[in-house]
Amino acid sequence: MDFRCDSDSQGQELPAPDAAAIAHSSRLIETIVARIEQRGGVIGFDEYMRMALYQPGLGYYSGPAPKFGSQGDFITAPEISPLFGYCLAQQATALFDQGCARSILEFGAGSGKLCAHVLSHLSMLERYFILDLSAELMQRQRDYLQSRLSAELFHKIEWLDSLPEDFDGIVIANEVLDAMPVQLLRKQVEWFELGVGFDGEGFHWQEFDPGDSARDAIRSIEERLGELPNNYCSELNLNYAPWLRALAQSCQRVVILIIDYGYEQHDYYHPSRSQGTLTCHYQHRVHSDPLIYPGLQDITAFVDFDACADAAEANGFELTGMVTQAQFLFANGLLEEAQRRAAEGDSIAQLAISQQVRMLSLPQEMGEKFKVLALQKNIELEMPALRREGSHG
Ligand SMILES: C[S@@+](CC[C@H](N)C(=O)[O-])C[C@H]1O[C@@H](n2cnc3c(N)ncnc32)[C@H](O)[C@@H]1O
Repeated sequence: MDFRCDSDSQGQELPAPDAAAIAHSSRLIETIVARIEQRGGVIGFDEYMRMALYQPGLGYYSGPAPKFGSQGDFITAPEISPLFGYCLAQQATALFDQGCARSILEFGAGSGKLCAHVLSHLSMLERYFILDLSAELMQRQRDYLQSRLSAELFHKIEWLDSLPEDFDGIVIANEVLDAMPVQLLRKQVEWFELGVGFDGEGFHWQEFDPGDSARDAIRSIEERLGELPNNYCSELNLNYAPWLRALAQSCQRVVILIIDYGYEQHDYYHPSRSQGTLTCHYQHRVHSDPLIYPGLQDITAFVDFDACADAAEANGFELTGMVTQAQFLFANGLLEEAQRRAAEGDSIAQLAISQQVRMLSLPQEMGEKFKVLALQKNIELEMPALRREGSHG
């Protein structure tokens, strides 16, 4: 059974991994198969995705694959341009000026570029904490940031292996929620969860009855939006609530900025989006088969921003607002700074800057697909950049 109702897999068109990559993936496959056997023949897709991405030493984010940028599999805003970090630093400065504590906690810092760009504009910052699930990436971040920053700035950074106690300041999560494991569900009169089994030759899909949490979540979506049609496949991310609960417990006075691709629920679970949003990235090719190349490819799902906002409110956060990435960056000086940098550069630099601005902000690039959701706890700071056009909230 193919997860996709339309049986779409472009696996054949993907570049073949080399022998070392195949050996790496085989070790992860053995580990996943052992887990499947331990669980009586099937694991939920969320467990498969967690192992495929984060199994220590073997998962995609925990292993040696290059991941980000032109050598890797996909590109993120901090990899595209330092202007993204500049705009976040502008937003942080506006919050610090209103009394927010001068510390940042970045989740999932990737290559470390966002940290480098933000820090270079925030001389007043006291601490920059990084918390990443991947020990491999944390080591790469250390090496990169030590080579890029002055000793003074570098010493402001602290890598954590768990949430800090009593954190005050700004939390940033850029493209982190889309990398959290999701459950896959399919409606065939009844709702089924899709799990992963192994038949001796390869992984295959296996249906089973959803657990209570998934059943409750899907019921509440259908109550809100109306019944979804048969042959409908989509994802559920039940990790927002525990993540936000843990943050609520560890943070005192905070502003959280969640930046990611995603939809509000009526768009996410629109009847026409009958294949869900799960996507795989392998060497800049996008396809829909998460069961191939475990450990070598990224697996991701769009963020359900309504579910995230509900989980935030349930855990004591106030919603400050949500805007598109383009609105957020424009309100934080993207165009002015781009013009200033272009005026200082030659024609090649000007072309590069203009290309970066387009990728970050055009609707058909990252401008509208990506949103910025801001939350606050025990603090009420003005964030005009988070106000939707035409809204007075
Ligand atoms: C798609 S990458 C984005 C990296 C970086 N933020 C960027 O924009 O280039 C996802 C990152 O989130 C990390 N991650 C995923 N879930 C996490 C969690 N619950 N806590 C901390 N880091 C997490 C991954 O290890 C990885 O570094």
